[in-house]
Amino acid sequence: TEKGGAKHFELAAAAGETEFKPGGATATWGYNGSYLGPTIRARRGDDLRFTVRNHLEETTTVHFHGAHLPAEMDGGPHQPIEPGGTWEPEWTVDQPATMLWYHPHPHGNTARHIFRGLSGLIYLDDDASDALDLPREYGVDDVPLIVQDRTFDGANQFDEDEDFSSSTGIHGDEILVNGTYGPYFEATTRRLRLRILNGSNARLYTFGLSDERDFQIIGSDGGLLSAPVTAGRITLSPAERTDLVVELRPGETVDLRSYPVEVEINSPFDRNNGLDDSFDILRIRAADELADSPEVPGELIEVPSLAAEAVAAERSFALQSPDSINGESMDMNRIDFGTEVDTVEEWTVRSTDGFQHNFHVHDVQFQVASLNGEEPPAHLRGWKDTVLLEGNGEAKLLMRFTAYTDPDVPYMYHCHILLHEDQGMMGQFVVL
Ligand code: C2O
Ligand code: CU
Ligand code: CU
Repeated sequence: TEKGGAKHFELAAAAGETEFKPGGATATWGYNGSYLGPTIRARRGDDLRFTVRNHLEETTTVHFHGAHLPAEMDGGPHQPIEPGGTWEPEWTVDQPATMLWYHPHPHGNTARHIFRGLSGLIYLDDDASDALDLPREYGVDDVPLIVQDRTFDGANQFDEDEDFSSSTGIHGDEILVNGTYGPYFEATTRRLRLRILNGSNARLYTFGLSDERDFQIIGSDGGLLSAPVTAGRITLSPAERTDLVVELRPGETVDLRSYPVEVEINSPFDRNNGLDDSFDILRIRAADELADSPEVPGELIEVPSLAAEAVAAERSFALQSPDSINGESMDMNRIDFGTEVDTVEEWTVRSTDGFQHNFHVHDVQFQVASLNGEEPPAHLRGWKDTVLLEGNGEAKLLMRFTAYTDPDVPYMYHCHILLHEDQGMMGQFVVL
């Protein structure tokens, strides 16, 4: 365990308005501003403390997605912050360097709170990643991208109406990146690290570069991979993150785009779930002279495999639209099971209705042991907290809960397609 310092951050959720594009300001929500929130930066070993204030007119929460922390600090539906109220979570960071995010998680209202703009990033650092020669100058050669889709109505307001032809909820027809409409980035270095969060409610993206060049994937939700993976495309479902490095040539312009998503779903209505759509995400303009940056190391960090360990419990989870896991909807008063601290469990998660879902577990980073009965692709062999399931797809996940036990306060697992989450495709467990 690394020794860190004390860090205190203030977050205040409030309503405001944001000028995204000509034609008038959009009513939005944000933390410490009108849209999104500040990037929180901390190191492994740091004692992190937050003062969270709720200036909204309704109850919200702040959940630290992907963070390993005590259940009462998790910010799920059991830690509501009333209008005018304050919440002060704290914990000691003890997990590998990565990019996490924070967002509201109020019971039944998560989709709307996130859609209006409440989300922010957490960068975690540690000694192992600092020892690697990777781009790490924030906003210069290490650039986070929060990708969201929104539809603007005639008065430039977010169109919040559910699309009843889609089983997964709201799909926008325009893209915001870090809350910016029509974004571009002026690159000044030969290698550019992009840490992408799919911050959308429902949409899946398959990212790639406009001239089909390859990039190197160096990290997943919960940390760096053991080695970089060369790829030309990467698919992210809501809440998933990737960490990748793009090589640039002086003076060029290249676009990060999203392409039609090739996931199997058992429905002729792919368009209704946005899978056929394409978007320009970010224009990258490289300066005529680029500062040199080192090649990505061939080996990154050690990712100890949980596959070699004895499995203490096996559980299975069947996700079924519109609102259930194993036939039951989320009930704040029902704890579905208790898991034993410091043991390895294998969870089998399945889509049973032919549609895409994804599966997220609080407090832990898991390993994907198999995907549809096969070894997962290399970029999914690192630490993950959210995994995409194709229609009728199945993933086996290995995980170990450590350090924090609490017989009374549960953590959540759920589909991170936010309409499904709010409809009750969620359950609760305690660590004992
Ligand atoms: Cu992104 Cu239950 O959370
Ligand atoms: Cu979470
Ligand atoms: Cu779902």
